[in-house]
Amino acid sequence: MAEEALTYDRQLLLLGSKRNEVLDLWEVHRYGTDSYGDADYVSIYGLAPSEWYRKGIRLLGRTAVECTRDRLADAIGRDIAAVANSEHRASGSTVVDLFVGSGNTLFWMLRHLTESRGVGFELDNQVFQLTRQNLSILGMPAEIHHEDYAKVALRLSLAADQLLIAFVAPPWGEALTNASGLDLRRTSPPLTEIVDLLLDQFPNPLLFAIQVYEKIDAISLAELTPRFDWSALNIYDFNVPGQNHGLLLATRGWRP
Ligand SMILES: C[S@@+](CC[C@H](N)C(=O)[O-])C[C@H]1O[C@@H](n2cnc3c(N)ncnc32)[C@H](O)[C@@H]1O
Repeated sequence: MAEEALTYDRQLLLLGSKRNEVLDLWEVHRYGTDSYGDADYVSIYGLAPSEWYRKGIRLLGRTAVECTRDRLADAIGRDIAAVANSEHRASGSTVVDLFVGSGNTLFWMLRHLTESRGVGFELDNQVFQLTRQNLSILGMPAEIHHEDYAKVALRLSLAADQLLIAFVAPPWGEALTNASGLDLRRTSPPLTEIVDLLLDQFPNPLLFAIQVYEKIDAISLAELTPRFDWSALNIYDFNVPGQNHGLLLATRGWRP
């Protein structure tokens, strides 16, 4: 097959001809080996690619790249739950993934926040259809809306003292550069805009969990953090130095 001569990297799957194609299993493995030297790199929902594929779970090329894989999503879920539980606020909370993609981060957040309701938003029709199908195969009890994240206040009605946990991982697009790292003002949409919408529309105690990169544009971080009552930055060490993801945890209306 001619395609076998291609390199299965971010360029091909996120920006090239495979972006909106449902991947075969060999292509998922090939992306893992070509890009990370690990055929099982795209392990999600607690399953290796051969296991999730056998169940009928399918991903687009773009989602194979954009998804938060198990190792990272598990750590993110655990860290969010530790903050939410520090003040016994997790029980009865709602956890919303505003850019749900594969739903894998929501899957792990709900594993660690067992008494929370899960809600996700996905704008892209193909990603939404596949994710809804994948989560139903898994029997995962979450509401996924095919809508812009900005509709969040229309879809959630919360008691005033209920904790709202918002996981925020919008497409990074051109926001990540070698020179400056991740510029939080240049994600699509900008993180400041997303955070301000939630701060304006929800009077509730809020816990933001914002996926970031090891190198962050310092000015953009300094512009964002004064909006919060408390914040902390965790950088994980799952990849080679310089290529790690991180999590900015931040609260409004309470402190852990
Ligand atoms: C980086 S991915 C999220 C990956 C996710 N954390 C996971 O575990 O798979 C971002 C997702 O947000 C979706 N998206 C982009 N703009 C959106 C918007 N305005 N509202 C809702 N979803 C959006 C994209 O289609 C994409 O699937």
